[in-house]
Amino acid sequence: MKVVLVGAQGMLGTDLQWAFQAQDVVSLSKAQLLIDHLDDVRACIRQEQPDLIINAAAYTNVDACENNVEDAYRVNAVGPRNLAVAAQEAGAALVHFSTDYVFAGDATEPQREFDPVGPTSIYGKSKLAGERLVQSLCPRHYILRTSWLYGVHGRNFVSTMLQLGQKQDVVRVVDDQMGSPTYTVDLANAVSQLVQKPYYGIYHLSNQGVCTWHQFAKDIFQAAQLDVRVEAMSSTELARPAKRPSYSVLDNQMWRLNGFAPLRPYRAALQDYLAQYQSLSGGVV
Ligand SMILES: NC(=O)c1ccc[n+]([C@@H]2O[C@H](COP(=O)([O-])OP(=O)(O)OC[C@H]3O[C@@H](n4cnc5c(N)ncnc54)[C@H](OP(=O)(O)O)[C@@H]3O)[C@@H](O)[C@H]2O)c1
Repeated sequence: MKVVLVGAQGMLGTDLQWAFQAQDVVSLSKAQLLIDHLDDVRACIRQEQPDLIINAAAYTNVDACENNVEDAYRVNAVGPRNLAVAAQEAGAALVHFSTDYVFAGDATEPQREFDPVGPTSIYGKSKLAGERLVQSLCPRHYILRTSWLYGVHGRNFVSTMLQLGQKQDVVRVVDDQMGSPTYTVDLANAVSQLVQKPYYGIYHLSNQGVCTWHQFAKDIFQAAQLDVRVEAMSSTELARPAKRPSYSVLDNQMWRLNGFAPLRPYRAALQDYLAQYQSLSGGVV
């Protein structure tokens, strides 16, 4: 299978390079291909003639999206539109990533793939627009909504906590948002399984288990053996520009219905992340 991977130097993109290393992969960074430039995207795909395009590129700074609305839509909606057009022209399938932020976050039970959406942030709205463009322009799509991503190739909640834990005895973390932390390595490996068959459609994919950010911070310090007290605070106190969903749990129903085993519990994945993090940082947690 020939694969073109765009956004290849992002947090997830870098792990996708590893997960797909047995395939013939052309990995393109933002410097090599801007997905919001239609002519460049079409020329690239026409030249490479892949069987599969994987879009790991996105505008992911949720708060910055609120003040940079056009940039958010350019990368998160126009970009996937361009990839969908090029994929369709080349007869390639398209993998696209989306987010729990497409939901309003006021549910009381895990959200299924076909539940009504209702994003409240520009990031969520622009990602939903991207999903819809991919769905309408490239029928052979795999759209994967995931949540609370962390991996060693990007800044994320876990790396932030580990850095704070080196310097502080106490950290304050919100305890009124619930979700499922997801390790990029597990997600990337799951995608490499999924695309082996024409299981097209929309998927929720996250590690198993549910926690608040507050609980997750406690799990991180415990796993890293850092003696840090975690105090609870509210999202209102934190006052971020973009509203966060308070309940972000995704039921991985489509993954299950297609016969795949659930991703492992998030605490088990966290252990592997810490080992990878330590080996990259020379033993320092
Ligand atoms: N991070 C999370 O918690 C989370 C949660 C749910 C879903 N997701 C989704 O998962 C996917 C991967 O996220 P991630 O955390 O790996 O993101 P990331 O680390 O920010 O990676 C995104 C990559 O896209 C690149 N990029 C930005 N604009 C581009 C453009 N116009 N053309 C080509 N490349 C461009 C970025 O380059 P620069 O960094 O140089 O701009 C970066 O390398 C995204 O679709 C995201 O929406 C993420």
